[in-house]
Amino acid sequence: MPKITVGLDIGFSSIKVVALNNHEKPVKLVSLGTIGAPVPGMASDADIELEATAAAIKKLFSAAKIEEKNVIGALPESRVFTRVIDDLPYLSDSELTSAIRYASEEFIPVPVADVELNWQVLFRNKLEKNEAASTSAVKNDALSSLSGKSSQFRGKTIVFVVATPKVLVNKYIKVMKMAGLNLRALETEVIASARSLVGNNPFSPTSLIIQMDATTTDFAVVSKGLILLTRSIATGGVALTRAVAQQFNFELSQAEEYKKVYGLASDQLEGKVFQALKGIVDVILEETKRVIQAYSSKNPQNPIKRIVLSGGGAKLPGLVIYLANNLGLEVQEADPWYFVAKDKVLRTKLAVEGPLFTVAIGLALRED
Ligand SMILES: Nc1ncnc2c1ncn2[C@@H]1O[C@H](COP(=O)(O)OP(=O)(O)O)[C@@H](O)[C@H]1O
Ligand SMILES: [Mg+2]
Repeated sequence: MPKITVGLDIGFSSIKVVALNNHEKPVKLVSLGTIGAPVPGMASDADIELEATAAAIKKLFSAAKIEEKNVIGALPESRVFTRVIDDLPYLSDSELTSAIRYASEEFIPVPVADVELNWQVLFRNKLEKNEAASTSAVKNDALSSLSGKSSQFRGKTIVFVVATPKVLVNKYIKVMKMAGLNLRALETEVIASARSLVGNNPFSPTSLIIQMDATTTDFAVVSKGLILLTRSIATGGVALTRAVAQQFNFELSQAEEYKKVYGLASDQLEGKVFQALKGIVDVILEETKRVIQAYSSKNPQNPIKRIVLSGGGAKLPGLVIYLANNLGLEVQEADPWYFVAKDKVLRTKLAVEGPLFTVAIGLALRED
């Protein structure tokens, strides 16, 4: 493994890079940076557009003085298909492979032959009479501690499956090559966020991560380092900006400023910015309620204890309080630097920009 681990997050609005020294504990920040993302960027399949993204990445690496060529990349949640499959019986590894292929056909809207399937076993247990024996049989499957000795989990396999279109993987490999980089690993944004925000600390409370980016908002319920549910909707920061632009008849750039300055403060400008934003924020609020409902109906024994807000949208003034008031749950702004040592000078700057780097930090924290 190289001494420096580099996480590269190609977002819709900006590209973020974080380089960490993973050999020191706590992990040390080596460098970081962002650059505006070319449009349409990764949404396009045309070489000329991909070259533009590659050129931006090159510029970013040189500005951040990162020489390491091996990088870990992130796939947008909205372009991959993920599912927790929880209705399988106890299966051996080889049985599991074919069962997952079969079960995946149900939630993947493209032929299974066109995707790469990856999965993580969350729980696997044989039907056994002896309580102690059944507990030791699953000691590698961390969810066993979540489910306790609840009988509903016996004789059962639960897997978290990620299906990634092969064309998408190839596009990422291609852009990295164009940028003179080597893609060492590729994972979904949510997996990276879960690593930097929750890690695998067995004491961290079961959390709902809400990652609000420019064009999407992703949801993930994470418990003891395991992702138990994910969802993505096509509403993000750009929709908020558009709503303000419409309300005031502004250019997008001016609307963006108003959004960032006033946010959800209902006592500013006669509450006009708040009113414009509320409709869109409520779309996210309602989806949050649905996610909580869907999760709790399947996991009543392990409730969500807190919400962690991440991505650029987490910085919307008043959002933390608005969600807390409407959900009755503790809501925090993301601190993805928790696992990273940092000096005093960086600390203030990083606190402000923290939520933007959640994905890139999570990628760079990957250990294999
Ligand atoms: N202070 C802020 N208040 C509200 N929204 C913000 C703030 N800072 C950034 N954003 C929004 O966050 C979004 C970008 O977030 P980011 O996580 O970088 O998205 P992406 O990964 O899609 O590039 C933009 O829509 C931007 O308007
Ligand atoms: Mg992003």
